Parts: sequence; C-alpha cells; structure tokens
Amino acid sequence: MSNSSEAELIHMFKGIPFTTRSSPELLKSLDSFDAREDDVLLVSYPKSGTHWLAGVITKLYDTQVTITSPIEFGDVSKLEELNNLSSKRIIPTHLDYNMLPPNFKNKKCKMIYISRNPKDTAVSMYHYYRDNPNLPTIDTWTAFFDLFLKGNVVCGSWFDHFLSWEEHEDDKNILFLFYEDMKKDLPTVVKKITLFLSLNVSEKDIQDICQKSSFSEMKNDTEKENSDPSHTVCALTSNRSLIFRKGAVGDWKNHFTPKQNRRFDEIFNEKMKLSKM
Ligand code: A3P
Repeated sequence: MSNSSEAELIHMFKGIPFTTRSSPELLKSLDSFDAREDDVLLVSYPKSGTHWLAGVITKLYDTQVTITSPIEFGDVSKLEELNNLSSKRIIPTHLDYNMLPPNFKNKKCKMIYISRNPKDTAVSMYHYYRDNPNLPTIDTWTAFFDLFLKGNVVCGSWFDHFLSWEEHEDDKNILFLFYEDMKKDLPTVVKKITLFLSLNVSEKDIQDICQKSSFSEMKNDTEKENSDPSHTVCALTSNRSLIFRKGAVGDWKNHFTPKQNRRFDEIFNEKMKLSKM
C-alpha cells in the first residue's frame, strides 16, 4: 500500500491492517468484552456476503433483535453501547478467530461464518476500495491483486482469516456457510440457519424471506433506507450502492488475467494445503 493518505486511513494491530475507524483502544479492550449467551455472531472476511446474510437472519426472528455494527468498529465507547442494548444482539465481525473476544468462545455463543470464493472476494474488495474514500486509493486491479495476495488489505490475509476459522469448523456453536451455496439454493441454506439458531419458521415464510433477500430486492430496499454508517453492517460507507454492486458468482473471470489466475491458484494450493476446502 503506497499512497499518501494511507497513514490516516490504516493502522496495524497485532500485524493486521485495520482502518482508523477501529480505534486501537477499542481493539485492545475487546479481550474484556462481556458476551451474552444468546449473542449471535456473523463472521466474515470483508465482501463475502455479510449484508446478505444479515438481511436474511434479521427476517427470521419474530422477536426484537438488534443488528449492530461490527464489534471492532468505533472507539472504546462501543463496548458500553453494546452493553446497554436490551434486545438480543446480532453482532457482525471481520475479526479472525484468534482476535475474537474470549468471552464469546467461553460462553459458546452461536457464530455463523460466511465464506466466498476468494477470487470473487478479491474482485469485490477491489471495487470497494476503488470507490470508497474511507479506504486507501488503489490505482489498478493489478496493484490491488498483489496487495490482496500479500494480505496487505483491511482485515489482512483472506487465507489466514479462513484458516483461523476453519480450524473450528466442527465446533457445535459454529456454522459454516458459503456464498455460492446461497446463490444456488437459498431456501436450503436458510433452513440450515433456522435449525442452527433453533428458530421455528414455516416453509412459506422461508420462501417469502428468500424472495425479499434477492439481490435486486435488497438493493432496492437499501436505497430507500437512511443509513448511518456507524450503525450498519458495513461501517465504512453510507453509500449502499458500494455494497450491493453485482452480486454474482464468477465475476473474477472478468478481471483475472490467465497469469494472475495461475499465480492465485499456486498460492491458494500452497496456503490451503491443510484445508478441507
Ligand atoms: P459484489 O461486489 O461481488 O457484487 P459484504 O456484505 O460482506 O460486504 O459483501 C458484499 C458482496 O455481497 C457484494 O458482492 C454484494 O453485491 C454481495 N451481495 C449483497 N447482497 C446480496 C444478495 N442479496 N445476493 C447476492 N449477493 C449479494
């Protein structure tokens, strides 16, 4: 990362790049965060479908739930703000497993990890960087491709993030989902989520929820919302068109050169050799 405004926008914490919207004080105090047993965490590497999943999950509850901004976003007052919430909390996070407040692990809170083909994730993140003034300026796709492979982007390496969570794939309180499965058969994934969260949702309601969660519906809805970035899943922009961009599987093919594809595959195979993916 090499442009002049980067120092104002990015800082390192435990070797991982964070935006300056995540204050070092907040990141330091996450270890003492007091989780509640009924908290649900929505975990993802950025641009993996977090908003989509959040949109689906909030529609599954018939009781009051609050979806917060990511736990790592804000200043130190964030934790008090979360403590003061009286309703059930659905808390997004892009933290890797090792940085997660230990209390969530000790209390065995339910966590849903959504993952996406890293090639599409890289492309989605490239557009997000390019169009978002709260992130460092990126000149070209080629430059971003290198940064992504090096893990020199917000939230660090996709590979490290995925592997840190995949190690816990068999934990009973963690559900692994894939963006591509949601695209292929959303009702089946939604049923899986309801079972995991012990929610009783009728077949008909599931169908309705899936319809309301299509890319076009969500994009339309969000354009009508008055969104305060500090209270939304993506805390880095209030411009919703940056989040609901294309919503497709395989857009990487429109960006990767054959050489980039080979290089990505080589690094993927090397880094993921112990992964079940
Ligand atoms: P693209 O940039 O490839 O379009 P996140 O929410 O983790 O930031 O991820 C954003 C990505 O999820 C974007 O990908 C966005 O378009 C996609 N997305 C959001 N809502 C979606 C939906 N309802 N269906 C499919 N994709 C969706």
